[in-house]
Amino acid sequence: MKGMVVYKSWWGSCKRIAEAIAEGLMETGHEVRLVAVEEAGKPDPSLDFVVIGAATRWPGAWPKIKRYAKRFTKKSFAGKPFATFSTGGSVNTDEPLTQASEVLYELLEARGLVALAPPFKAAIEGYKPPGKGEDRGTLPDSELTRAREFGRELGRKLSIGKPYST
Ligand SMILES: Cc1cc2nc3c(=O)[nH]c(=O)nc-3n(C[C@H](O)[C@H](O)[C@H](O)COP(=O)(O)O)c2cc1C
Repeated sequence: MKGMVVYKSWWGSCKRIAEAIAEGLMETGHEVRLVAVEEAGKPDPSLDFVVIGAATRWPGAWPKIKRYAKRFTKKSFAGKPFATFSTGGSVNTDEPLTQASEVLYELLEARGLVALAPPFKAAIEGYKPPGKGEDRGTLPDSELTRAREFGRELGRKLSIGKPYST
């Protein structure tokens, strides 16, 4: 099948996660266009599936990627498979904040697209916001491995036409 992996990254970690997911999808036989949201253009209704992700930014996701998700109209995209992903500094903390993948998931589900999997949340280790030590943190290799496997899982589900159900 033919699809798109679209991402919004700032410091590069979310881009690396997007690349790993795209690799997993391609390894399982799918054709993928990997593109930053700034270059994505209008969503193409001829695509079979869409995977969208972003670096989490309080209170959830960057306005730019939210605006992009809202362009998947019910009329053209209802029933198409989708998945979402994100990177975030609070994922493995005691009080994780809402992640971009959760916000994007809700937006696409509300437009009638069909989820292939729950939101994929990659953890940035050691992130500290300004005023609390200020540190960008790092993206562990293990998160890239998980992302690649997530891409393969999506690819397998696409191949057998099996959406995720709660
Ligand atoms: C202004 C700002 C706000 C952020 N807000 C959150 C947040 O609410 N929750 C969270 O888990 N991480 C938050 N982070 C950490 C980012 O999610 C993390 O740096 C980002 O995912 C790294 O991806 P990137 O390298 O692609 O930019 C924030 C970072 C910045 C700079």
